[in-house]
Amino acid sequence: MGHAGRLSHASRSTVRRRLRGRHRSCDIDPSGVHSDEEFMSDSTIPGGTFTLLSGVTLTRMGYGAMQLAGPHVFGPPADREAAVAVLRDVIDAGVTHIDTSDYYGPHVTNRIIKEALYPYPDSLHLATKVGARRDENGGWPHARTPDELRQGVYDNLENLGLDAMDIVNLRVGGFSRPEDGSIEEPFTVLAELQQEGLIRHLGVSTVSAQQIAEAQAIAPVVCVQNFYNIANRQDDELVDSLAAQGIAYVPYFPLGGFTPLQSDALGAVAARHGVTPMAVALAWLLQRSPNILLIPGTSSSQHFRENLASATLTLSREDVAELDAIGV
Ligand SMILES: NC(=O)c1ccc[n+]([C@@H]2O[C@H](COP(=O)([O-])OP(=O)(O)OC[C@H]3O[C@@H](n4cnc5c(N)ncnc54)[C@H](OP(=O)(O)O)[C@@H]3O)[C@@H](O)[C@H]2O)c1
Repeated sequence: MGHAGRLSHASRSTVRRRLRGRHRSCDIDPSGVHSDEEFMSDSTIPGGTFTLLSGVTLTRMGYGAMQLAGPHVFGPPADREAAVAVLRDVIDAGVTHIDTSDYYGPHVTNRIIKEALYPYPDSLHLATKVGARRDENGGWPHARTPDELRQGVYDNLENLGLDAMDIVNLRVGGFSRPEDGSIEEPFTVLAELQQEGLIRHLGVSTVSAQQIAEAQAIAPVVCVQNFYNIANRQDDELVDSLAAQGIAYVPYFPLGGFTPLQSDALGAVAARHGVTPMAVALAWLLQRSPNILLIPGTSSSQHFRENLASATLTLSREDVAELDAIGV
């Protein structure tokens, strides 16, 4: 396992100056109880923040690191310096939530994150996923035996240079939908790793409501990461029920992922506001529910800035009604 990966008080001051004072420290609520009003607190970053049930506060505008690896999320990127620069822009903008996995590349994305950001500012929370691996054809087979899960967590720690992961999601289904079946055995392995101090907070990914309930009976679940966007609304009920429980919902493929979102309604609303359809898609998610945290993926600093700016866009009731029709 690597170093602690966190900065001393003196070093933190230096980094905070480097970050032009735009970071917020994480707010710990020892009671672990949060009212609706506490879901979003003040933050200078567009979109505000959300406090997980475990007391950790994340910016609602996060960043998904998957696009930093090479084509098809395999091998190194064409321009490693550009990847490093995107990550530094993400941090400089005050984003405190980066989503990654050691199977991106594999290992490539985490090593770029470490190169760009280590030692990490204490405001930054890295979330990862275990439960899959890459095969020689670039496929994403499951890797959910106890040994594979343990190794997955060790690999993340090693490549990120951390002693403990902030958030580990158990990835269960494929890319597009959950798969039936019990997750008791694999989630218990992650709960054990949490007891051992290697994981601070647990989440689940590509799961059904039934699987989330099964996990909650084993250990607290602070976030759920599923496929959801303006055109793929199969989790509408789940988003609302998780909001009622104070659990974060982190949609992956917020911009459509490997198949970019396209719709006349999206284009029409974007044209009215003078912004891109991507900005409207992200703004719609932010307005959809206060427990939605965004991790749009990009390999471009320009796109990152556009995505962050989308959080300043306010959609009217009429806009939302028009956009809601896309996903039904
Ligand atoms: N739990 C899971 O199983 C799972 C699965 C998939 C992904 N994820 C996570 O979710 C994150 C988001 O998903 P994603 O990256 O696959 O898909 P996404 O965020 O929906 O879309 C990424 C694509 O959109 C492009 N893009 C981003 N911003 C843009 C902009 N402003 N204008 C035009 N194009 C833009 C990117 O290209 P450029 O690089 O050219 O900007 C990239 O091709 C990932 O990074 C990963 O961390 C989790």
